[in-house]
Amino acid sequence: MEFLPEPINAYTEAHSMPESELLAQLNRETFEKVLQPRMLSGHLQGRVLAMLSKMIKPQYVLEIGTYTGYSALCFAEGLAPGGELHTIDVNEELTPMVDRYFRQSPHSAQLYIHVGKAMEIIPTLHLPWDLVFIDADKQNYSNYYHLLINHLPSGAIIIADNVLWSGKVVDPQNYKSDKDLQALVEFNAMVHADSRVENVLFPIRDGLMVLRKY
Ligand SMILES: C[S@@+](CC[C@H](N)C(=O)[O-])C[C@H]1O[C@@H](n2cnc3c(N)ncnc32)[C@H](O)[C@@H]1O
Repeated sequence: MEFLPEPINAYTEAHSMPESELLAQLNRETFEKVLQPRMLSGHLQGRVLAMLSKMIKPQYVLEIGTYTGYSALCFAEGLAPGGELHTIDVNEELTPMVDRYFRQSPHSAQLYIHVGKAMEIIPTLHLPWDLVFIDADKQNYSNYYHLLINHLPSGAIIIADNVLWSGKVVDPQNYKSDKDLQALVEFNAMVHADSRVENVLFPIRDGLMVLRKY
């Protein structure tokens, strides 16, 4: 869901960097062939993620929720020389497509695909993540956060997607009937109150919670 009026959104995209041809092709193929294509970050959010990554210049990026690989390719643009991006998804059917696009990326040697449940894979990866993107099953957002936060170096950034859940986070009547919404509301409140991090909720697309560990 876009929160900006369509003309403002179009103007914003028109005055932001374009997607690379590889990302535009991945965007098109995802919409043509894959279920739930709106899960893909897309042009504007993708450029925001790429810009943040270029500002951070991470050595180690962890992505939870690869889908077709769009956001991973955006984060890869900012990787430090010799850096690594590890991305996890439970849906093995998407792996051949992700792999095909990763091979075409100038950063292909730095990209690692992991297939399985993120709660099981994360504890097997012992790297000092300086950028983490949480974008998988909403009911595990808090679990992912708790699993990682004590192991992250000072200054590490966590970005969590969809934290506005199409704006429903402000409507308490929905909380009980939507478990994902309930989980996101609890996640937002929990991280906002956590003295180990500072945070800003960016109202970009479906909401990006950006957290920096002290
Ligand atoms: C919103 S999509 C990710 C979109 C992608 N980050 C992008 O912006 O292009 C969420 C992905 O999380 C994956 N997923 C859901 N539950 C998961 C779990 N328990 N472990 C790992 N991946 C999971 C889904 O298969 C789906 O591909």
